[in-house]
Amino acid sequence: MADTVNLDASAAAGEWLPAGSVEGFECGTVRVVVASEDLRIALCNVDGAFYAVEDVCTHDGGPLDQGELEDGEIECPRHGARFDVRTGAVIQMPAAMPLATFPVKVEGNELFVSSRPGAPLSPERARGGALL
Ligand code: FES
Repeated sequence: MADTVNLDASAAAGEWLPAGSVEGFECGTVRVVVASEDLRIALCNVDGAFYAVEDVCTHDGGPLDQGELEDGEIECPRHGARFDVRTGAVIQMPAAMPLATFPVKVEGNELFVSSRPGAPLSPERARGGALL
């Protein structure tokens, strides 16, 4: 089961959503940031760099945080679609549409994910100098 950060309305109101500490966030795992009923973000630790994608499979709404994350790819537990969490791209059908991605930043030991979809940061910028 993925670690989950549930945000209250005030925390979810800004562009940068608090997403917890880098401490204890292991490589190859997923942390869910619940910004609202309509927005769940899967924050993924890929070898110490952080990437965020919408936590909803584009095939049929499967919960991606409950799938396997390996080598930067996450597999939907429902029907096996695979996505590259660094880009949102579909790697394996049956999904055909890419995932929305969200920028991530690290300040000190704290992670933040943008509530606005956009291109992911490079691994160097996503790492933000915080080493695991
Ligand atoms: S819902 Fe994800 S592969 Fe079908």
